[in-house]
Amino acid sequence: AEIEKSWGPPPGRIQTDGRDIFILGVQLGNVFVGIQPGFGYEGDPMRLLFERDFAPTHAFSAFYQWIRQDFGADAVLHFGTHGALEFMPGKQAGMSAQCWPDRLIGDLPNYYLYASNNPSEGMLAKRRAGATLISYLTPPIASAGLYRGLLDLKASIDRWRALDPDADPNQRAALAGLIQAQASAVDLATEEPVWADPAPEIVKLSAGLLELEYTLIPHGMHVVGEPPNADQRAEMLSAAGVTEAGAKARYDALLAEDHEIPSILRALEGRYIMPAPGGDLLRSMDVLPTGRNLHGFDPFKLPSAFAVQDGMRQAGRLLERHLAEGNAVPETVAMVLWGTDNLKTEGGPSAQALALMGARPRYDSYGRLAGAALLPLAELGRPRIDVVMTLSGIFRDLLPLQMKLLAEAALLAAQADEPAEQNFIRKHALQHIAQHGGSMEQAALRVFGNTDGTYGAHVNSMIHDSAWNDEDELATSFVRRKGFAYGLDGKPERADKVLQQVLASVEITYQNLDSVEVGVTTIDQYFDMLGGVSRAVQVARGGRASAIYISDQTRGEGKIRTLSEQVTLETRTRALNPKWYEGLLKHGYEGVREIEAHVTNTMGWSATTGHVAPWVYERIADIYVLDKEMRDRLAHLNPTASAKIANRLIEAQERRYWNPSADVLAALRQAGDELEDRIEGISEGVAA
Ligand code: BEZ
Ligand code: MG
Repeated sequence: AEIEKSWGPPPGRIQTDGRDIFILGVQLGNVFVGIQPGFGYEGDPMRLLFERDFAPTHAFSAFYQWIRQDFGADAVLHFGTHGALEFMPGKQAGMSAQCWPDRLIGDLPNYYLYASNNPSEGMLAKRRAGATLISYLTPPIASAGLYRGLLDLKASIDRWRALDPDADPNQRAALAGLIQAQASAVDLATEEPVWADPAPEIVKLSAGLLELEYTLIPHGMHVVGEPPNADQRAEMLSAAGVTEAGAKARYDALLAEDHEIPSILRALEGRYIMPAPGGDLLRSMDVLPTGRNLHGFDPFKLPSAFAVQDGMRQAGRLLERHLAEGNAVPETVAMVLWGTDNLKTEGGPSAQALALMGARPRYDSYGRLAGAALLPLAELGRPRIDVVMTLSGIFRDLLPLQMKLLAEAALLAAQADEPAEQNFIRKHALQHIAQHGGSMEQAALRVFGNTDGTYGAHVNSMIHDSAWNDEDELATSFVRRKGFAYGLDGKPERADKVLQQVLASVEITYQNLDSVEVGVTTIDQYFDMLGGVSRAVQVARGGRASAIYISDQTRGEGKIRTLSEQVTLETRTRALNPKWYEGLLKHGYEGVREIEAHVTNTMGWSATTGHVAPWVYERIADIYVLDKEMRDRLAHLNPTASAKIANRLIEAQERRYWNPSADVLAALRQAGDELEDRIEGISEGVAA
């Protein structure tokens, strides 16, 4: 009856011929390999705007019932990170008989092969679906290196450097002209105007090339049961900065042996799986050996003393970069906080939010997190910056103490008897009360996220399904889904007036990037939340966009980039880089799917922020669609994803994110049509 309220009478409309429900998979003796159905709102993303009484589809419920009751499985192994079961509606922890994850999995032993760098989502699988995680290694890591026109450019710059200072001025000018033309061919400079003084331009180009060459990228995929080879292991250890001979030998041996399949077999024999911390291999080799059950963190220790110090430094870097762009100190910063980035850095991003507000955590006499305290303004040395925070559903589930910490910091700041020009939180809270009345507790709400049991801003599903006309609809979805305020009582409530007022004062939106493997164009949740909030800010400010930054915390001391720099860097080191795409294409259909995801996520950034340069689409079209040989290769490996790439590029043109010539557009359309025909041909073949 509950499912019928959401989805109508059985068998519903998903995975059905109108009479039966299909369970997709193949039975191999005693083993059934099945495909977990989707949530059901794919293709109908508006459905999730109505939060209440959401239930899994008939197909989803039938899938688990069939596995348990008809097939009679002794255990289930969920294969690969981030499925749908553990995100079904219900409580965050301590499942009851009303909670869907528990209703669906029941008492079936649940093993879950899970990415070792994703302890935060893994924790939800444990808490909400009773999973025992079995960690797997992330892909090999390599420096991006240079390719094609970038190599030519580097060679010319090397020649420029080697020029005799007394060389013939005509020769110098000719070489500078060549460098400018080569840089323009790879979209690193414009052809006009001709450089009056080439030397500083060439220094800049050279620094840019260096960053491209040494940026780390994932190189291919990890295959379970196939440990990385010697070269890959050497690159991984070097990227992680492991240099001491003993440590190198130890970790190399751990990487060289498969620990994952033996663990799966062990688990299926009902034996114990050893625990392991989750995290990035590049940060901590403690994740080795994989094949272990990931655990999280001590919630009372976050943010750590180190994170508090580093949070102040990183907040300083963000402000420095913003000032260097010619801006004043911002009154308000909008920040996206995830579980993963906080777990991997002992709470670094939460500490950045505290630092911006001029606050710090307070600990009790046992050293456990007890709340927030303000730093004196004299110590802070700048105004308290207002911070409006968007939490992922995962942060909300994993870090309730930290939510209260952040909410308390905002409230303490709003209550502090300090001049408005030294305390923007108080300034905005007083303005809100003057305008709308209400209490200080209400006016100082700054921690926002989904309501209980729901995840995501849904901007990503709208982009996937092209289910929107105007970009501002994306902001509407963001605010509806992410507009629940969390105060000191930790209970979600709508606070739309406060949210709109504070969004209207935002001058910077930003988010940390925590993993080399996962960029802002790799998964759709970055544009879902950071893109979503940036668009919501733009709408609240009557069309005026904020600055958008990424705080790259993946290596060393961290680096602030503008969003457009980050998208450009990822485009050059990944999408346009043969090393990246050839590495993926070795893995067949899934490689093409990852390339398609990159293209769709890129368009997600165009839609939410407009910060993607048109040449990005031009080059992507050149490589993946207009080149016949590549197009055929992709179509052979994965016709569906190939057609999506072509159609996404056409959609991006229709939405005016780039402006290809009529010839290019016609070629794209034709490629799209051919791919669709090919898919139809395959479906007909299957049906026959
Ligand atoms: C998180 O840890 O909060 C998160 C991870 C992946 C996607 C979105 C959020
Ligand atoms: Mg997946």
